[in-house]
Amino acid sequence: MLWSPAMDGGSAASQKPLARLLAYMRLAPGAYVLGGILTLLYAAFFQLIPLSIRAIVAAFENAPDAVGRGILWLVAASLCLALARLFSRIVMFNIGRQIEFRIRNDYFAHLQSLPQSFYLAHRTGDLMSRAVNDINSIRMFLGMGLLNLLQTPVLFAGALIVLLPVDATLTFWALAPFPLFVLITRHYSRYMFQANLAGQEQLGKVSTVVQENASGALVVKAYDLSNLERERFEDQNQELFRRMMRVGVMQTTMFASVSLVPSLSAAVVLWLGGQRVQTGQLGAEDLWLFWGLIGMLTFPTMMLGFVVSITQRGLAALERLGAVLDIVPSIRDREDVADVSDIGGRVEFRNLTFTYPGSYVPALKGIDLAVEAGSTVGIVGPVGSGKTTLVSLVPRLLEVDDDSILIDGVDLNRMPVHLLRSSIAMVPQDSFLFSISVAENIRYGVPDAALEEVRRAAARAQVEREIDEFEDGFDTVVGERGVTLSGGQRQRVALARAMILRPSILILDDSLSSVDHGTEEAILGDLEGRRRGRTCFIVAHRISAVRHADQIVVLENGRITERGTHRELVELGGFYARLHHRQELLSELAIGDGGAAVPEPASGVRAPAASGQQRLPLGEPS
Ligand SMILES: Nc1ncnc2c1ncn2[C@@H]1O[C@H](COP(=O)(O)OP(=O)(O)OP(=O)(O)O)[C@@H](O)[C@H]1O
Ligand SMILES: [Mg+2]
Repeated sequence: MLWSPAMDGGSAASQKPLARLLAYMRLAPGAYVLGGILTLLYAAFFQLIPLSIRAIVAAFENAPDAVGRGILWLVAASLCLALARLFSRIVMFNIGRQIEFRIRNDYFAHLQSLPQSFYLAHRTGDLMSRAVNDINSIRMFLGMGLLNLLQTPVLFAGALIVLLPVDATLTFWALAPFPLFVLITRHYSRYMFQANLAGQEQLGKVSTVVQENASGALVVKAYDLSNLERERFEDQNQELFRRMMRVGVMQTTMFASVSLVPSLSAAVVLWLGGQRVQTGQLGAEDLWLFWGLIGMLTFPTMMLGFVVSITQRGLAALERLGAVLDIVPSIRDREDVADVSDIGGRVEFRNLTFTYPGSYVPALKGIDLAVEAGSTVGIVGPVGSGKTTLVSLVPRLLEVDDDSILIDGVDLNRMPVHLLRSSIAMVPQDSFLFSISVAENIRYGVPDAALEEVRRAAARAQVEREIDEFEDGFDTVVGERGVTLSGGQRQRVALARAMILRPSILILDDSLSSVDHGTEEAILGDLEGRRRGRTCFIVAHRISAVRHADQIVVLENGRITERGTHRELVELGGFYARLHHRQELLSELAIGDGGAAVPEPASGVRAPAASGQQRLPLGEPS
């Protein structure tokens, strides 16, 4: 089944956010034990401080010579407290970082396993925001959040143990305001989760606008839309500001309300404790103990308020991440995967109908086509007729029904995905290059290919000479989306990337559209010489790219309307013949014009059939 938005969250296979986090936490149990021990130590030293203060006060009254020793104890306890605090933070924060690292890796690996349909439905900026902001929020929760969630209850338990034997009544009244804390935070956290989720979603939208403007900078400038885009960004940013302010206001009011709790408790200690000291029920040094300990609990309590907000943000982030991680990749090896170790290259479409997810109109209807291993099929047709869709189905980039495509007689859906993808090389219509060197782009599918091989592939794609003319030659780093290369160069580098592989099936989706006729002939001639045993799909708008194919199909409106060889189709007098006729006319016109635009033949190119054909405007026959 294809991915669908309904699978976001709530599917049966989805993991509860906390369960997912626990699964990661279980990977480092030792670190948690260490963190626990350090927390206990921290709690113990924490209590020692007010206890030392009490000893010092008592010594002032009864044994002045013991004051110095008491102060030494205080200093020692403070030092130990600082150390325990430092190390517990290091340990807990490190676990947070480690889990962050793993989650980010898993997120990336998961993204890679998701089908094309997922990317059609999700914005890049949002996916990036999840990888960066949401995973950061999870780390904050795991480090700072978890540390305080563990530590603060232990501190309170320690305070109870110390204070109860001294004066149970005063302990009860001194700690009585603290449950208020629970009420306050419960009240706020209910809204904070939603507010944080809304904020993080908006952050995803803002990232999307930035990403689209960076990728589409050229279009934005060419259409002079900078102002419009800035307005679009400002609107989204304004909304982000509003949502984040909402989170901020909630956070600060909660923080302020929470900080009232220890103050209330301190007031109780002074008022009730003072009375008890006056009536002699409590020693003055004990009042110092109560005062000191309650004072020290103020900060952790306030921190806990902060932790509530970190936790809500962390949970919201987990939910957003879960929405992606829970999607079961629909294109993966099935249980009934066929036991095949290589692909010969026979491709058969059987009454194939394909509809894009979310669309109601089928992009392909009733396609019946057999492509013998080692043969070449040319695919032509008007724009939007389904050519790209048809060839994208072969490497299983999109999901089709069982038994509608067979490779070497085996159902495509039962083919091992890895074998399938490593046996098929596809040059997509929109050739994407990575921001790495030209050589690395070419050897993308064979990372250990020698430079010799890279050069050979570039030569076959007729782009070697141009690359050599770059200042850094094959080491030239391609700008984002290949902006430093011309459209035609980019297309041929993408072609070289496919040619360096030894695929059983080669798919060229309009991959020669930006090269002149001579170069096209040279590339096709080379392919013809080497393609023995290799099945080729050539999608083209130009007759010249397909005329030598073993069979040619014409796609119109998602249906095959004509099929045959070049000669047969020309005789048939349909779409193909009209296209052929029109292109012939145009080429004659170009020659009639004096053949001014004679293409510069690439080195070693066999002479073009009709010289003078360069970048002919190729309209569709009417
Ligand atoms: N992701 C998608 N979701 C929904 N419909 C799509 C999607 N991609 C393509 N289509 C539709 O499917 C039909 C076929 O598109 P396709 O890209 O296969 O055409 P094409 O023949 O390759 O066109 P071109 O010659 O312009 O490359 C079109 O009507 C198009 O609008
Ligand atoms: Mg296309």
